[in-house]
Amino acid sequence: MVGVVGLGTMGAGIAEVFARAGLRVIGVEADPEALARGRGHLERSTGRAVDRGKLTGGERDEILGRITLTTSRDDLRDADLVVEAIPEILDYKVSLLEDLDRICKPETVLATNTSSLSVTAVAAATGRPGRVVGMHFFNPAPVMRLVEVVGTVVTEPSVVAGITELSVRLGKTPVTVGDRAGFVVNRLLLPYLNHAAVLLDLGLAGRDEIDTAMRLGVGLPMGPFALLDLIGLDTAYEIMGVLFDETRDRRHAPAPVLRELVTAGLLGRKTGRGFHGFHGFPGDETA
Ligand code: 3HC
Repeated sequence: MVGVVGLGTMGAGIAEVFARAGLRVIGVEADPEALARGRGHLERSTGRAVDRGKLTGGERDEILGRITLTTSRDDLRDADLVVEAIPEILDYKVSLLEDLDRICKPETVLATNTSSLSVTAVAAATGRPGRVVGMHFFNPAPVMRLVEVVGTVVTEPSVVAGITELSVRLGKTPVTVGDRAGFVVNRLLLPYLNHAAVLLDLGLAGRDEIDTAMRLGVGLPMGPFALLDLIGLDTAYEIMGVLFDETRDRRHAPAPVLRELVTAGLLGRKTGRGFHGFHGFPGDETA
């Protein structure tokens, strides 16, 4: 049995991935409101698959039936693996891992879906650093095929191997990476996204021109502003902060327009407005 703590966009997607692979999942949120939002993510995502003819109603019910939602972390005591997908704030993650270390049986593997924070720092908060690992999914988790498996200097090799095998069972392609800020994907992707925002700020081209140029000129599925809105501007901003702190490389210093939007609470799809405007579910782009 697998636990997922945090049922925002990523956590709910990760819970769905496990349940689709036939695993029983316990999804944990902090309070009933957050739990209801998590349930909403799961119902919309699987409902959309039914609408597109990718799942039958029965299959959707089976997938949702494998996921138990709760506000009690204590329900994770018998989990074999717990993946945390709470906000990218080190203090929150450290305190959660301390809690999970106390609650879960000694063999439980604790995985963090952190985008850029130090897995080593999170592992060191526990009495089982050898059984703590990074398991980094990509947004939207049910669709994106990569998992970055992050081992630290103290992660037991068998834990890295187990998470790698599990990722394959989930239908993903795992790559093993070291514990440096941003791992591989975000270390390369975030400076590019940031630079797009710098160019927008400079007035080199408009939002849609830059998005279209990168989609059609490079064959990317989304332009940088559509992707920033998907990732969440707050998340992108936080990752850039971590990258900048670790590298002091100016390419990672967040563009002023990004800071402006985050400060204004325009975080992308999750709040209905970011670089673009949205109504309703991701994909319902209106402006
Ligand atoms: N949840 C579940 N499924 C979704 C979804 C969502 N939010 N969004 C799209 N899908 C599914 C659709 O149902 C569809 O499934 P099907 O092929 O089985 O019918 C499939 O994805 C394709 O969707 P659409 O036809 O609606 O749209 P597109 O073909 O434009 O694909 C996309 C949408 C998959 C999001 C594509 O645009 C894409 O790959 N974009 C790039 C995403 C990306 O780069 N993600 C990584 C971000 S970095 C990151 O996550 C790291 C983190 O640490 C910040």
